[in-house]
Amino acid sequence: MSEPCGAPETAAANRQKLIVALDVESVGEARDIIAEIGHTVGAFKIGLQLFTSAGGSFVREIIQSGTKVFLDLKFHDIPNTVAKAGIEAARMGVWMFNVHASGGSEMMRRVACDVADLCQREELTKPNIIAVTVLTSSDSNTLREIGTEREVKDQVLHLARMASECGLDGVVASANETGLLRESIKSRDFLLVTPGIRPTFATNDDQRRVMTPGAAISSGADYLVIGRPVIKAADRLWAVKTILGEMEAAST
Ligand code: C5P
Repeated sequence: MSEPCGAPETAAANRQKLIVALDVESVGEARDIIAEIGHTVGAFKIGLQLFTSAGGSFVREIIQSGTKVFLDLKFHDIPNTVAKAGIEAARMGVWMFNVHASGGSEMMRRVACDVADLCQREELTKPNIIAVTVLTSSDSNTLREIGTEREVKDQVLHLARMASECGLDGVVASANETGLLRESIKSRDFLLVTPGIRPTFATNDDQRRVMTPGAAISSGADYLVIGRPVIKAADRLWAVKTILGEMEAAST
């Protein structure tokens, strides 16, 4: 693929920021997508659907072939169980995985500490551990239903601050929240991973509050998670190249 115009180092940096969601049902489809665009993106996200159908052996297989994996299983359980699951994710070699911040500070501290200790002991690269705050499918009614009176935005900020204080590496946040999170959490190292991105050529699908790749980068996102606009595109390479072009236009 030819580089989108501009400095090669900017193009390479933007490529690292692009995570494509492998939201497909079979190993065959996933392998096709990786073969087609794997060299043009930073990482692939494997979520509940593909993990349930393909299992850990597929994740290991693609990591061994040099693909970076964001394991999006959103761990939420007692601290010991989440820490042990995190340890296995680290041993698998995933580059990033996530937990629900609503599992509480003890759970987040425990997974952060135990995974860091394990990686030091076994000389592994520590994965980025990211917190999920409020799912984008939830609104204030959903929060009230489960006993939370805060507005969504305030709950997102509250949980993101908790995640930062507990030593997690960042949060998954809707692109509409990145500006607010950047202002409120001073550590520039705190990673903001944003789904709900729609390039100018794509439809919104079921995403309600979307942002273009350029606007998301400008608002302070570190990584963009994009699924359907790439994996359902008639020409996936063209889709990736166009997205990288939009990111680059915002970076200059
Ligand atoms: O196809 P699309 O680009 O909408 O995919 C976005 C990906 O990000 C999906 O895998 C979706 O599950 C995930 N995601 C999201 N909103 C969140 C967290 C994850 O869309 N808050």
